[in-house]
Amino acid sequence: MRSDLCGNVTELKLDQQVEVCGWVDKRRDHGGVIFIDLRDHSGILQVVVEPDNEIAFKIAEDARYEYCLHVKGHVRNRPEGQANPNLKSGKIEVVVDNYEVLNKSKPLPFMLDDDTAGENIRLKHRYLDLRRPEMQKNMRLRSKLTRTLRNYLDDMEFLDMETPILTKATPEGARDFLVPSRVQQAKFYALPQSPQLFKQLLMMSGMDRYYQIARCFRDEDLRADRQPEFTQLDIEMAFVDQEEILNMGEAMIRTTFKKVLDVDLVSPFPRMTYADAMNRYGSDKPDLRIDLELVDVADALKNVEFKVFAAPANDPKGRVTILKVPQGAKMSRKQIDDYAPFVARYGARGLAWIKVNAKENGRDGLQSPIVKFLDDDSLTAILEKTGAENGDLLFFGAGDYATVTQYMGELRLKIGKDLGLVKKSWQPLWVVDFPMFDYNEDEKRWDAIHHPFTAPTGSVQDLQDNPGESISKGYDIVMNGVELGGGSIRIHQEDMQSAVLELLGISKEEADAKFGFLLEALQYGCPPHGGIALGLDRMAALMCGADSIREVIAFPKTSSAVCTMTSAPSEISEKNLEEVHVRAIYPEVEEDEEQDSEEDE
Ligand code: AMO
Ligand code: AMP
Repeated sequence: MRSDLCGNVTELKLDQQVEVCGWVDKRRDHGGVIFIDLRDHSGILQVVVEPDNEIAFKIAEDARYEYCLHVKGHVRNRPEGQANPNLKSGKIEVVVDNYEVLNKSKPLPFMLDDDTAGENIRLKHRYLDLRRPEMQKNMRLRSKLTRTLRNYLDDMEFLDMETPILTKATPEGARDFLVPSRVQQAKFYALPQSPQLFKQLLMMSGMDRYYQIARCFRDEDLRADRQPEFTQLDIEMAFVDQEEILNMGEAMIRTTFKKVLDVDLVSPFPRMTYADAMNRYGSDKPDLRIDLELVDVADALKNVEFKVFAAPANDPKGRVTILKVPQGAKMSRKQIDDYAPFVARYGARGLAWIKVNAKENGRDGLQSPIVKFLDDDSLTAILEKTGAENGDLLFFGAGDYATVTQYMGELRLKIGKDLGLVKKSWQPLWVVDFPMFDYNEDEKRWDAIHHPFTAPTGSVQDLQDNPGESISKGYDIVMNGVELGGGSIRIHQEDMQSAVLELLGISKEEADAKFGFLLEALQYGCPPHGGIALGLDRMAALMCGADSIREVIAFPKTSSAVCTMTSAPSEISEKNLEEVHVRAIYPEVEEDEEQDSEEDE
């Protein structure tokens, strides 16, 4: 139907016939001549319908927003002074010879270029929303991204393999989505949280190198960077150590950024231990675009009278740390005080601060509600440790290590954004040497920090003697403060796997029931292996500069896990339920609530 795409018709086609299709982006009636901005994914073309083409003119008079058209015409220069330098087709226009309406359009529920249209209405009519040039750009970039990754991995002789969607629980730390079986009464499949166990089994099968652009399903609380179903670039390799996987992943990511965005990433990517990341940045995914760092000052405050500082300074599980904001003393009292409720959200009980006005004047040069509680030696030590200069502002975090680390890490990000300290750059980072476990106080057992199939650096004996100190062969790849992906070297011996499951409080019987197939497979000459999974939605969102992964997913769910377009999830009939041997428990609806929801509709 087409000879050209709208956006690609240029002066090179002067005086030639073209045939184009698209949507009416704008229609203007100019003294008896009708101008139509015709849009397709490639851009906009100005189409002119002149009154002497009576048939076309008569139909074109009815053209409305988003009508779908098919037009034949010839290309001519726009009149002097009418060129539009913002369009590739801006120097020319197409004079219509033949004009056909392929389909009319009702008035749209929102104007495509209306930035104030809410997300709900956009998602309800996602097929219209996707017509917007920005969404077109996002979807095309995402497609280029997956194509580039596939080509790269194909060249490296990775096999593209599929794994089951109807399967058994694969523990990645979220809840499973369940699917009832019709054939097997009262039994359920689980949708995979990731292909983790299958990709390990493929290494045991001698497949050597696997990848898959895999859909993963996790029933967890949703946020801007989390969807209930999302996509991973999932990778596994046999006969490799950690170094080889990091090098492979790094080369792949570097090539991809170059090909998709023409960006040269630093080489090599910096690496940081988990402990360093938490100590210096208060996060396991530090955003290195912000130069601010935390400086621990417990040593300087062990003997002060101020208990808020002295108590955690003397507690091995405590932390006293400072975020120095260069030239932050300019902030008003109100600006400073407004950060207290922000950190309180993450459990802070206060946010002490010192303005360094004139450090040469000793304590008189420091402005703060807490200087009076601190002796001269402590003040000097704090200034020295932080390298504070006149004009700087110091924020203090004091309390238990985990809480302080989290809220000071969040404060670092917030201040970085508020004060415009986020550099425009790409900052990749490998985070390595994660602990194997985290102690779960509520359930009195260990939790795996990666997943339970991640190998520790030490022996079974080391692991059992001191689980809390055990370091894993897990790693995360972070970009600009976003956790892009994670992986690990896996346990490839049955005794180690059983030891880890035991520490996680999984009994032998439970382990056999859940992962018996894996434990058995580990006993038939399993090769050392490891891998990584990149969050493809997150990678695409970063590359598009989108705030939420919903902007790079064609048909995403809302934050309450609903597809407003199809109304999924929805109720199903009693008959359907019966077929799959399930009885639904319907939520109790109060009478007046019922009325409300009827009114909503
Ligand atoms: P992990 O659970 O860290 O590892 O997931 C890997 C990456 O997937 C992305 N991701 C998500 N993206 C969108 N929505 C979600 N709900 C979501 N959850 C995770 C993140 C994350 O870094 N099997 C292991 C990988 C391995 O060990 O090889 C795994 O799934 O970007
Ligand atoms: P208080 O003695 O509780 O009034 O606190 C005195 C100062 O210390 C106030 O500026 C508080 O914001 C600050 N503060 C209290 N608890 C903490 C804490 N855990 N971390 C940092 N500053 C705190």
